[in-house]
Amino acid sequence: MSQKSPIDQTLAEQGVSTPAGVTSLFTEIGSRLAPHDLQGDLDRSQWREVRDHWLGRKSGVLSRIADNWLKPASPELKRVVGQELNKLKSQVERALEQSRREIEAAAERAPEARDQIDLSLPGRERAIGTRHLIRQTYEELQRIFLSIGFSVVEGPEIETPYYNFEALNIPEHHPARDNMDTFYIEGASGGHLLRTHTSPMQIRTMERQPPPVRIIVPGKVYRRDNPDSTHGYMFHQIEGLAVDTDITFCDFKGTVEYFVREFLGPRVKTRLRASYFPFTEPSAEVDATCHVCEGKGCRVCKFSGWIELFGAGMVDPAVYGFVRYDAEHLSGFAFGMGIDRLAMMKYGISELPILFQNDVRFLGQFP
Ligand code: PHE
Repeated sequence: MSQKSPIDQTLAEQGVSTPAGVTSLFTEIGSRLAPHDLQGDLDRSQWREVRDHWLGRKSGVLSRIADNWLKPASPELKRVVGQELNKLKSQVERALEQSRREIEAAAERAPEARDQIDLSLPGRERAIGTRHLIRQTYEELQRIFLSIGFSVVEGPEIETPYYNFEALNIPEHHPARDNMDTFYIEGASGGHLLRTHTSPMQIRTMERQPPPVRIIVPGKVYRRDNPDSTHGYMFHQIEGLAVDTDITFCDFKGTVEYFVREFLGPRVKTRLRASYFPFTEPSAEVDATCHVCEGKGCRVCKFSGWIELFGAGMVDPAVYGFVRYDAEHLSGFAFGMGIDRLAMMKYGISELPILFQNDVRFLGQFP
């Protein structure tokens, strides 16, 4: 026969008849609580088992003590049993509460908890990038030229002297090479260089396709310039070339004027100033009335009322010779604009380098 647990027997059955006997019984029961039941790492269901073992309504330890010890206790012992039972109860509750907190804390440290998403939290805001001002300007230029029938081609930044110079009618000791001094790539067979302008793509395009040609060419170009507020070793250009059987100087001028008005606004006037490029004849610098003072004269236009925009001209027939185009029947115009320059002018930026420093305080001003 298995022995009955003391909590299932009355005090009288156990022969306990003094308050001291009661106290030592409770001490004995209480000593089982902390060390055995609630230490170590319990999980939530083990914790519930322990709680029910002690506090369960019907067969929990405390209920059984109340039933078997307290209720039938003799009047002399009832008081001390009641007191001890209350003490034990709060001891049990305290131990359970502490253990519960430990379990919760451990759960929060667990990796799954860290991955849990709290949908009530405000979202983390991430700054959305913007297109770089150079790209925005380029896209604006592209939009204007696509609308009048040009298409976009791109070409290599590493070029041969032939495409960068010779085929553009700039022979080896020609002085025009001086202001386009560039970076040569050492040891390359036949010599390679970083293109100084996008004009080599005029040649590459005409070599590749028969006329008519109407292209724009965006891209980076390089020059061995001394860096200052308007010069760097690299900048962006957009080249234009139109060649067909019946292109006149009027078409050239009309196209230029249309472009300038689209880009800078309808009030701006243009003028062509005679210039020189070995691959255009005649050549011109295209100026626009200053968009800040509208031609009255101000600091931006250095009090001239005019701002130089870009170089251009009618394609020099000598160039057709290099691509085996029929110089007798073809004519065309070309232009080459600095995208950075146009952007600086349009948006009133005085320092070129700031365009390439990737400072979001600057870039964020052009959303
Ligand atoms: N390639 C010239 C430059 O970089 C610009 C240009 C292009 C001039 C096409 C005329 C025609 O300075």
